[in-house]
Amino acid sequence: MKANGPRTKRTYAGSRFSKKDLQEVVAGIRGSVSFGATLNAYTSFNIGGPADVLVEPADVDDVRRLVKQASARKIPLFVVGGTNLLIRDGGIRGIVLSLSKLRAIKDEPGAVLYAEGGVGMPTLIGHAIRRSLAGLEWAAGIPGTVGGCLVMNAGTRLGEMKDSVKAVRLVNMKGDVMDLPAASIPFEYRRARLPKGIVVGVWLQLQQGVRAKIEKVVKEYLHYRKDTQPLAMPSAGCVFKNPPNDSAGRLLEATGLKGLRVGDAEVSTKHGNFIVNRGHASAADVIELIGAVRRTIKQKAGVRLDLELKIVGEA
Ligand code: EPU
Repeated sequence: MKANGPRTKRTYAGSRFSKKDLQEVVAGIRGSVSFGATLNAYTSFNIGGPADVLVEPADVDDVRRLVKQASARKIPLFVVGGTNLLIRDGGIRGIVLSLSKLRAIKDEPGAVLYAEGGVGMPTLIGHAIRRSLAGLEWAAGIPGTVGGCLVMNAGTRLGEMKDSVKAVRLVNMKGDVMDLPAASIPFEYRRARLPKGIVVGVWLQLQQGVRAKIEKVVKEYLHYRKDTQPLAMPSAGCVFKNPPNDSAGRLLEATGLKGLRVGDAEVSTKHGNFIVNRGHASAADVIELIGAVRRTIKQKAGVRLDLELKIVGEA
């Protein structure tokens, strides 16, 4: 489809994969399976077209079966769960996985927590507080899943995922479970270099601390973020990486871009590095707004802004 062609929302009916192949990939899956499901509800932006098939596997064995069956038919898999994500309006071809049913947290000796990939970061922080475990305070206010945060090495000024990761459990593309020690994973700025596969769990090495102190840091940080970021509106977190020694939000403010709109997509008036969905923004609106921002910043400040937001799917 041409970039400027009509924007149709395609399900398997218009997919390059046959319905028969897609049905074979999900055969025997015990979790939920939904053909043509719209993905907006699975993103923090509340934007996104349909998946050919959306699967929420019941457990790790279900993930293994799905990966094996998809690999055998060369049908791609994409995992939703990160928050720095924009799914285009045409949606995603192939299988989309949500690990929403993989939500177990296990306490292990030595201040270690094992969290399944679909555990929400706020839930994990709550659990750590109840156990008086310190180390995740930096993530207060991040709405993504543990798996999503791991894959993109999510971070804030206070810390990042790699500071706490002890090991990662991944289902590789053959459907085998691999446990990878953190030392074997190259972590980069907002990215973990992992073998191809699905992150189904993460061991986090935390520190035994004092509950009241941990709670205080989390509350202060949440307040700071609520005061400075538009957390009450649908968004995908920060859109741009911070340029060296500067803040993208500060640059957008200094360039007068706060409040700029395309359709219902708006550069937040609260924090310049957030684009918020004021109701019915499309992915095309957001992408057009990003283009306008980058051009203006290049012209006025001479800075090339790189995307932190990951854009996926078909236009
Ligand atoms: N600022 C402005 N105007 C704005 C936004 C920021 O002048 O609209 C100024 C602030 O006043 C401050 C400076 O820029 O002096 C830095 O701002 P802030 O503390 O908000 O931090 P940031 O560098 O903009 C980073 C992360 C955020 C994270 C915050 C807080 C990146 C790209 N951004 O933002 O992460 O929440 O620190 O720790 O790393 C994200 O990753 O999705 C994200 C939002």
